[in-house]
Amino acid sequence: MPTALITGITGQDGSYLAETLLGKGYRVVGVARRSSTEKFERVEHLQGAIEIIQADLLDQMSLINVMKRIQPKEVYNLAAQSFVPTSFEQPVLTAQVTAVGVTHMLEAIRATDPTIRFYQASSSEMFGKVRTSPQTEDTPFYPRSPYGVAKCYGHWITVNYRESYDLYACSGILFNHESPRRGLEFVSRKVTDGVARITLGEADHLRLGNLRAQRDWGFAGDYVEAMWRMLQQDEPDDYVIATGVMHSVEDLVRIAFAHKGLDWKLHVKTDQSLVRPAEVDHLLGDAAKAHEKLGWRPKVNFEEMIEMMVDADIERLTRNGKTSVTPTT
Ligand code: NAP
Ligand code: GDD
Repeated sequence: MPTALITGITGQDGSYLAETLLGKGYRVVGVARRSSTEKFERVEHLQGAIEIIQADLLDQMSLINVMKRIQPKEVYNLAAQSFVPTSFEQPVLTAQVTAVGVTHMLEAIRATDPTIRFYQASSSEMFGKVRTSPQTEDTPFYPRSPYGVAKCYGHWITVNYRESYDLYACSGILFNHESPRRGLEFVSRKVTDGVARITLGEADHLRLGNLRAQRDWGFAGDYVEAMWRMLQQDEPDDYVIATGVMHSVEDLVRIAFAHKGLDWKLHVKTDQSLVRPAEVDHLLGDAAKAHEKLGWRPKVNFEEMIEMMVDADIERLTRNGKTSVTPTT
């Protein structure tokens, strides 16, 4: 049974990747950082099937010790400060975790077992103010947030360690991907949670920022399969993972409200305080290389995903009562 190590296992992608790897017969070990309150909701259903070990991307020695103890064949580095607005508020922390944390991971691999296969969670946010459209692996980066800048560092240090030390290190340039497990602060989940609350009579409006921004949104469950496929190739490489279809935030809002027979214009208020200091206006990915070399294709389309998320939020709120926290950003 090969061992896979996942950093960021408590996050959206970590939970889907853990399920996927268990299904393929892996022993799955997740890294979680110490917190005063344990937050394992996304992997609660995997209790007993996965192991969790404490370490932090900010602590080099903790990562070396994990590698020595677990002896993984594959390492998926999904841990990051991943919320763009927070990166404007906490740019240094974002750089330490999302950028330098990647070097800590690569150094831990070099120091313990350089045959480990490594996946780095790169991001379409690196394309930022896009130079060409659609974006491919060859499109130059122009990040528009401290998060995007940090991800560029993580991307290039992964390429550099591959070329300098012959590591099997891949970078997946993933476009936005969502699910019912998405953090409540990201726009897709904020909208689907808002629609659920309005449908249940718990709220009557939703505050949003820039409705004109456009993204290439896919389903997280489809995207983690691509991460695994990248580590099964003869040679390490970088891949864009995207649907090739772009929608605006307004499209997202309209589809989510219409799913419950609601007119979004009666419930959405725009709030200038939610507009970012610098915006990424549109992202559209061309995943032709992943189609050809990995045989990867997305299965869930945008409308299906948004409707799935609205239904899941209504189900959750109905089950839990009205106690869940409302996102504010
Ligand atoms: P997420 O839900 O925000 O999860 C981030 C994970 O990182 C959490 O498990 C978090 O742990 C962990 N983490 C944060 N700081 C850490 C530290 N110092 N040490 C150890 N772990 C730490 O993110 P996601 O949506 O699953 O995304 C996974 C990765 O893909 C991230 O690197 C993200 O930047 C990248 N990415 C995401 C998308 C997307 O659309 N979802 C697109 C492109 C790239 P806690 O639970 O303790 O906070
Ligand atoms: N979060 C949020 N909240 N975004 C809003 C809101 C709001 O109230 N109103 C409008 N938006 C717009 C943002 O300005 C942005 O243009 C778009 O919705 C998407 O925002 P997010 O869902 O927060 O995602 P993101 O694109 O900034 O970043 C996500 O995708 C990246 C990949 O491109 C994150 O998952 C990153 O970690 C990831 O790398």
